[in-house]
Amino acid sequence: MTQPTANSNATPLDTTFNHSTYSLNSFAPRLLDWFAENGRHDLPWQQHQTDTPNPYIVWLSEVMLQQTQVTTVLPYFARFMETFPAVQELAAADWDLVAEHWAGLGYYARARNLHKGAKQLVEVIEETGDFPQTLAGWEAISGVGPSTAGAIMAMGLHRYGVICDGNVKRVLTRWAAIDGDITKSATTKELWELAERLTPVDDSGLFAQAMMDMGATLCTRSKPACLLCPLKGDCVAHAEGRETDYPVKAKKQPKPSKFSDALLIESSDHDILWVQRPDNGIWGGLWSLPLQFVEKIAGKVTGNTKNASKNKQLDVRSNEKVYETEFTTAEQIINEWLTENKLVAESVSHTLLEGAPIKHSLTHFHWYLTPRKLTVNAAQMTELSEKLSAAEITFQWLTEQKAQDSLGLPRAMEKLIER
Ligand code: ADE
Repeated sequence: MTQPTANSNATPLDTTFNHSTYSLNSFAPRLLDWFAENGRHDLPWQQHQTDTPNPYIVWLSEVMLQQTQVTTVLPYFARFMETFPAVQELAAADWDLVAEHWAGLGYYARARNLHKGAKQLVEVIEETGDFPQTLAGWEAISGVGPSTAGAIMAMGLHRYGVICDGNVKRVLTRWAAIDGDITKSATTKELWELAERLTPVDDSGLFAQAMMDMGATLCTRSKPACLLCPLKGDCVAHAEGRETDYPVKAKKQPKPSKFSDALLIESSDHDILWVQRPDNGIWGGLWSLPLQFVEKIAGKVTGNTKNASKNKQLDVRSNEKVYETEFTTAEQIINEWLTENKLVAESVSHTLLEGAPIKHSLTHFHWYLTPRKLTVNAAQMTELSEKLSAAEITFQWLTEQKAQDSLGLPRAMEKLIER
């Protein structure tokens, strides 16, 4: 291991960081030695073993990994690289193709930002002949925050870059026993300062990858493997046996629950109506069954959610109903048409879980979607199609199988039609 210049644990504390200069200086060498022996070196997006790193690969993988685990990302990354081997191909692709490749990864705003970011990158390349070369240049790309920009600088360009993502925050709050709420800006600032102090100028790419691996494999949220950790000697949380008290995060409010019906409007040829969601909002640009908002309840729902919105036995902890209706234009048109024609979608009764909703959790609420079916004749199909076309709604009549094969469907739609 490279020895830091100061070599005694008796070095006085660095008053800015509450660790001795020795501890601060030896952090990176200890981590990098551990990484060389025990880190992950075979992830397909890694660029630390080449002298000609590809920033496109690092950018793409970092956006995919922002809120998703490595094992989930691997097959998606492979498909993206196969279809869009370079940023120009991603930028030139139709949104539907990108959405279809992303479908199932969740947090669809990331996919929209990725597509927009690809176009911005191509513009930069056309202007300058290369990818952005500065932190600010990367931060100007849609969907790239300060930590992703630091990761791309360090790992995708082999320049200097600092990361401070969730993994790093967990490692550092434990190592330095930082008690501040990590959702507060003062704590974020403190963590960034510490991350900058610890990142070696010449090896920031390896350091970034090592911190990510440390956070993902040793310094895990609920069961950290402290005995194997190269930082255990001066980890304050470990010394106090309080590893899992960190990071401190304000307790979240329980998510509200929203109930909607998902309409399977089926033609006599067994085609189903699919509508493309508006670009802004949930599942923007993806395809969905038409939904009918039923109700939204603040607080958590427990117990039997079969026919949840109608079930009188449902234990709703907070009875407070949020009187809110949310319909896209397409859904408003469909609702009006159903009402005008006195058509009612019936509970789907051919499955074991007769009429039961599927539960899908998003960032801000749990969504209970109950499938309801309605068969329309040829004249009704034409009339409804004409109304949607007149409002410039993008829609298609397709069987469940064809929709799965050719449209970007959010995971919740797949869950609904798989059952
Ligand atoms: N999480 C975020 N970025 C990562 C990366 N490059 N490798 C592994 N896990 C990550």
